Amino acid sequence: MSGNPAGSTADQAAHPDASHGVSAGIPRDTTAAVAASAGLVTAGADARRAVYDRATAGLDPPLAIVDLAAFDHNAADLARRAAGRPIRVASKSVRCRYLLDRVLGRPGYAGVLCYSLREALFLCARGTSDDLVVGYPTADRGAIAALAADPAARRSITLMADSAGQLDLIDQAAGTGHPEIRLCLELDASWRPLAGRAAVHIGARRSPLHSPEQAAAFTRAVLARPGFRLVGVMSYEAQIAGLGDAPPGRPVRAAALRLIQRFSASELRERRAEAIRQIRALAPLEFVNGGGTGSLEVTAADPSVTELAAGSGLMGPTLFDAYRRFSPHPALLYALPVVRRPRGPNAPVATLFSGGYPASGPAGPDRLPSPYLPAGLKLSATEGAGEVQTPVLGAAASGLRIGDRVWLRHAKAGELAERFAEYYLVEGDAPARAVPTYRGEGQCFG
Ligand SMILES: Cc1ncc(COP(=O)(O)O)c(C=O)c1O
Repeated sequence: MSGNPAGSTADQAAHPDASHGVSAGIPRDTTAAVAASAGLVTAGADARRAVYDRATAGLDPPLAIVDLAAFDHNAADLARRAAGRPIRVASKSVRCRYLLDRVLGRPGYAGVLCYSLREALFLCARGTSDDLVVGYPTADRGAIAALAADPAARRSITLMADSAGQLDLIDQAAGTGHPEIRLCLELDASWRPLAGRAAVHIGARRSPLHSPEQAAAFTRAVLARPGFRLVGVMSYEAQIAGLGDAPPGRPVRAAALRLIQRFSASELRERRAEAIRQIRALAPLEFVNGGGTGSLEVTAADPSVTELAAGSGLMGPTLFDAYRRFSPHPALLYALPVVRRPRGPNAPVATLFSGGYPASGPAGPDRLPSPYLPAGLKLSATEGAGEVQTPVLGAAASGLRIGDRVWLRHAKAGELAERFAEYYLVEGDAPARAVPTYRGEGQCFG
């Protein structure tokens, strides 16, 4: 799905840099003009809405925009929080080459944490980066064979591994005597408060390598196998980076989370230091990656980590509103058109076309999109965000007319790119211009 430039040709719509004229029908109020020139990040809701409406006036929603002032502000804030550690961009949270290039061009950013090997091959072929770590193990035999056959890709791409079974699969797919493949060992960063026993596991279910000894044993196993070179270690503390410590209206949960995160960070700091010490005694490492948007300052303070990862914080989705230490600006929004007034033209309810884009993870209200502009709207408790229509409720709905647009935020950063072929870039007061998402480039990596 994509916003269609009203009245433009298909060719213009498909072109990455297609721009369009701004409709003369929308008045240029002074507040909005000032907001555009002074930087949208500090503007009020009405001014932002006016700028977004005006910048996309020639387009028909559904459409998605990226507010570049907010994106750049967020990128600078992530780098500030990283305190000098380079940030590897978590591409799953971006899924758009223009935005990857834009952030990689900034100081403080180096390399990409890809989510699939096929994606890494695509980014390598397009020249996005020559430092592409695939953050999750792969079982894609075709992509592994392509990697093995491509010397430039082999130099640039690093695969994730935590068990011998994954290496067996790579051997089978790449063929006997395959050239050297770069590997990153994933160390489990979860917290197991009961003396390391797996029964109580706080964190994501990722690597089986939890203790320093397990990590060292796997390192020896890699070193003993031809065709692999261990170059890095990654340990992602999802229970700190991905869980907001200030969930709105839930003070008890917030207090419990903060406590858990504090204990977990101090346990991980010691365990990671020892694991890295043991691994480095066996193999030279190019990098030790850790963290995510929610944990940058905590992970940056861990001396055994050489680089961080982050992506979501660039886009500012709603799940990242719930942190005390930082607040990204909403950079990624989508617009839906008002198509119905189910209780008449002045009632506080309007129905939008489409819009049901829930986020992955444990199903719950926090995974639903949130109406954003005009301010004060909410989803209906009985319908939520629907497959083909989304009612929004609230006083602000009274003033909406058929054809007006409502701006929404997604709960997560990357998944919206699977719904739209292009993102429209909003910059100051200029007309929005389109850049393709991965989907818009005909790519779908899962
Ligand atoms: C391995 C890894 N590192 C870092 C991140 C953080 O990404 P983000 O900053 O987009 O939350 C994730 C997210 O799931 C991840 O899986």
